[in-house]
Amino acid sequence: MSAPHAILSNRLAAARPSATGAVSELARRLAAEGRSIISLSEGELDFDTPAHIQYAAIKGIIGGQTRYTSVGGTPALKAAIQRKFRDDNDLDYQPSEIIAATGAKQLLFNALLATLNQGDEALVIAPFWVSYTEMVQIADGTPVVITPPAGDHFKLTPDLLAAHITPNTRWLILNAPCNPSGALYSREELAALADVVRKHPRILVLSDDIYEKILYEGSFTSFAQAAPDLKDRVLTINGVSKSHAMTGWRLGYAGGPAWLIKGMELLQSQSTSNPSSVSQAAATAALDGPQEFLDDWRDRLRVRRDTALSILAQTPLLSISRPPAAFYLFADCGKAIGLRTPQGQVIGSDLDLARYLLEEAGVAVVPGTAFGLAPYLRLAFALSDERLKLACERIVAACGQLAKA
Ligand SMILES: Cc1ncc(COP(=O)(O)O)c(C=O)c1O
Repeated sequence: MSAPHAILSNRLAAARPSATGAVSELARRLAAEGRSIISLSEGELDFDTPAHIQYAAIKGIIGGQTRYTSVGGTPALKAAIQRKFRDDNDLDYQPSEIIAATGAKQLLFNALLATLNQGDEALVIAPFWVSYTEMVQIADGTPVVITPPAGDHFKLTPDLLAAHITPNTRWLILNAPCNPSGALYSREELAALADVVRKHPRILVLSDDIYEKILYEGSFTSFAQAAPDLKDRVLTINGVSKSHAMTGWRLGYAGGPAWLIKGMELLQSQSTSNPSSVSQAAATAALDGPQEFLDDWRDRLRVRRDTALSILAQTPLLSISRPPAAFYLFADCGKAIGLRTPQGQVIGSDLDLARYLLEEAGVAVVPGTAFGLAPYLRLAFALSDERLKLACERIVAACGQLAKA
């Protein structure tokens, strides 16, 4: 029994730690024990932050950009964000409608905390990025999970959306390109979803565009771009983590209605204050500087995606559709369920399969359960060609050892 003082708040009672983090942690532990582990569980690019961004940060430090800034970001960064939204997304946000934070994660957290009351519902589309449902719960809201059919990358349809709206619905959380499915919506598809949202004036839309730049096929449209008349009900979230290989710099940004941005800024002012001044200098350079390096990154990632798909096609136990965007494969592993490992254990779930692959093949993947959909595995392909190839070959070999129970 725990000591009387060791009681966490009710707010945390339903929250779980990040499942992706747990797998990475186990992989790190096995690696520390000397096992050869290849991690396909990380949600980040293996590329270095481009040199011109690194230099901008160093210049920022030497030039004295080392003090507190305005909570929502420096004027220079806000101007760069304003230009980015205008040039890339046809979205015109004033500085009072823009906020920078310590990663997109903090923006999501602040937005939900600033708007949800007990009983309010947030619609989340499965498979979903692990933190959405947890953040909604921590903010006292109720996540309502919609699970579209697997075809066409689990995309939400207007009918499904309409069927899940109640008088308590406060948010529709959209993430495209999607982590983990890679789903990408066309302008027409977003406009059709907007037709439903338009009928319900209380609903806000959170458009998580963080994978906007990691695109192999098709083109990107942001939700507010597809439905300009709803712009005042949309929070457009983005960041430099995935677009510029800057996960560790912790810098995200958002555009939205001034009342919401103000509420988010109030929360931020009482928690972390401004995002790192040095990261702001770096992000300003990232957004204002050359973007051509992204073509090369996309080409390299596309090759990795296709290499991984062709190797994994050798096992009949995984069924994977080709993602048009982001850097994850979301593999249906239903055919592995019920099979027996060489050690005699029955694979009863995607969690069991992930554990088996880690222990038997030395490959870390994330079970679909973490993303609200089982039995699936998420495999990130943002690692060197050689290691990715080796990891996929190991997975195929380990799957080949599973036998009928
Ligand atoms: C869909 C999605 N949104 C937001 C984030 C958080 O990004 P940031 O590093 O800017 O906090 C991630 C990170 O993995 C993500 O996958």
